[in-house]
Amino acid sequence: MKIKGGNVYLKGEIEVPGDKSISHRAIMIGALSDGRTEVHNFLLGKDCLSTVECFRNMGVNIDIKKNKVFIEGPGLKGLKEPKKTLNVGNSGTTIRLLSGILAGQNFTSYITGDKSIQRRPMDRIITPLRKMGANIKGKDDKFAPLEIRPSNRLKGITYKQPVASAQVKSCLLFAGLYSEGITKVIQPKISRDHTERMLKYFGADIKVTGNEVYIKSGNKLKGKKVIVPGDISSAAFFMVAALILKGSKLTLKNVGLNETRTGIIDVLKAMGGNIKISNLKTVNNEPIGDIHVKHSKLKGVTIEGDLIPRLIDEIPIIAVAASVAEGTTIIKDASELKVKESNRIKAMVDELTKMGVDIEEREDGMIIKGNKKLNSAFLKTYADHRIAMSLSIASLYADGESELEETDSIAVSFPNFFNLVDKVKS
Ligand code: S3P
Repeated sequence: MKIKGGNVYLKGEIEVPGDKSISHRAIMIGALSDGRTEVHNFLLGKDCLSTVECFRNMGVNIDIKKNKVFIEGPGLKGLKEPKKTLNVGNSGTTIRLLSGILAGQNFTSYITGDKSIQRRPMDRIITPLRKMGANIKGKDDKFAPLEIRPSNRLKGITYKQPVASAQVKSCLLFAGLYSEGITKVIQPKISRDHTERMLKYFGADIKVTGNEVYIKSGNKLKGKKVIVPGDISSAAFFMVAALILKGSKLTLKNVGLNETRTGIIDVLKAMGGNIKISNLKTVNNEPIGDIHVKHSKLKGVTIEGDLIPRLIDEIPIIAVAASVAEGTTIIKDASELKVKESNRIKAMVDELTKMGVDIEEREDGMIIKGNKKLNSAFLKTYADHRIAMSLSIASLYADGESELEETDSIAVSFPNFFNLVDKVKS
């Protein structure tokens, strides 16, 4: 895909598609509930459709009409043995969360995914699930494909997570629904809490105190209506674009503003970004609102510690903002980026270097010396949706025409990304 940059700005009002994390959870929790769940503004991205397919393969009736999804929940014990290997495609959230659910079933299941999924670490779920008594195996005990056999009995454990991960936390909370006693997860830093919020909304006995989450067995979940907020991780590309493209003034409507996800807003404001929030309200236990962004002069910042899990998926686009800011941006404590859909530290360092940025790769992050100018270039995307979108925004800013080697991956989380860019671009 070729993208012409320079003298471009964004103006108007858009609504980004539904949140990916919340869309996955609505399908999963709906499928474990009794009765009908109705999901509005569901993200029709490839990842969430993989989740739908997995549950259809376990006998759950799921109907999709435009971006509304209707799930006939068979209840906690209502899943059926899949007739074939479950395929999660590119979706880490699907494989990790689903494994927790499958650990509690009285049938055998096999799960796999694409090349990227087969490279990503699964020992982070295999180890604690085994401690709970699960019968789970992976390739070399570390990778997908996974094989999950019925276990005699799952028991609740206290698990201290070595790294902050909502996927691992959620996996264990789902397994906790099928375990004797209490499952307690202690987080080193607080990661996104959509599972906790949604389980509570559906009636589960779940408690959160500070960094600790407790769930009891013997829950009964009841089908509900869920309205999925706009995905702040998708909004992030437009927020950065509007901040760096001179003359921009953009409103993003109905975006999820859960505090475990709003690190991007805190950082962009600290960089000097003109960002205002209005129309704050709560839908199904999740805060949402409108985000107003105006072109601003940005300056470098340091991003580290507890902030990292609150913006982990936004670091590639933050790297773009930092590249055109004044001064140095330091990103540390973010080694998790190396095990995402691609090695996102290396990907952004290599590609932004091609655009003329002074950027240095670090073991747990990067150092970027901002310099208002970006050159057009031929860019690789590593078949990673967030790298592809970040480089698309960088290309809009750069002088001349850039070429992105691959952009199909964008459909994983934001199928209408380029349509929305065209809608507000002048
Ligand atoms: C997600 C959690 C994060 C995030 C991913 C989605 C989720 O991963 O990077 O895109 O929906 O729970 P980790 O929890 O592994 O950090």
